[in-house]
Amino acid sequence: MSAQTITRRLTQADLAKLHQAGDKIVMFTCYDASFARLLDGTGVEALLIGDSLGNVVQGHDSTLPVTVADIAYHTAAVKRGSERAFILADMPFGSFQESPELAFRNAVALMAAGAQMVKLEGGREMAATVRFLVDRGIPVCGHIGLTPQSVHALGGYKVQGKGEAAAQRLKDDALALQQAGATMLVLEAIPAVLAGEVTAALAIITIGIGAGRDCSGQVMVVHDAFDIPPGKKAKFVRNFMADGGSIADAAARAVAAVKDGSYPGPEHSYTA
Ligand code: KIV
Repeated sequence: MSAQTITRRLTQADLAKLHQAGDKIVMFTCYDASFARLLDGTGVEALLIGDSLGNVVQGHDSTLPVTVADIAYHTAAVKRGSERAFILADMPFGSFQESPELAFRNAVALMAAGAQMVKLEGGREMAATVRFLVDRGIPVCGHIGLTPQSVHALGGYKVQGKGEAAAQRLKDDALALQQAGATMLVLEAIPAVLAGEVTAALAIITIGIGAGRDCSGQVMVVHDAFDIPPGKKAKFVRNFMADGGSIADAAARAVAAVKDGSYPGPEHSYTA
């Protein structure tokens, strides 16, 4: 199956079919209708309204101040701007950790704004919440490895899953989230080999960011991939504007590079 031939909005089932066919899934973060329209036309399969909007849109130094209302506002804009991409919305800090019921209420607000799936950070400690949401009709994407909402607990934005014990913990978290009903899992800033092992051990889709090429797909923060503002970025970022042309050209290059496996390369990946 080629996702390129589907002209309606992609569903969770379409993404699962792509995954089963071994086709890499391309996801971008997106926060507004104009970028949604541009990315939608380039073959991108999924748009994530990430709480990274706290950094790249609102100018904060972390994702912690982002609210459910912020994510809902930007989700509605992305939905209006796109016709085809699958839409995921991030559950911001404090919107889901306290109880499954609180998570459900906030997830409902994001689904009502246009999301088809919500993403939440955390491992096995979030399994009961994931199960609660999934049992009530809300598809869930987990997010493990570097979880930016825990930046202060982690002591900074550091690569996770290094060393045998940490790697085993991460694998156990991944399995717990799959078992709880998550159908997608973001793996952020972990060694490439570990991400490959986690992906091989799971039936669900893994989406890497700083997790090497052996994930089922990749997510790129749109401002990073297009070098906005210009300057030094994390090791895993490739500047797709470096070859010139328009943002649409750069987005097409990014889609092609993920699809053909040339991004991320070893130079964008972490070792154990
Ligand atoms: O908020 C975000 O942009 C994210 C991605 C980095 C996965 O969570």
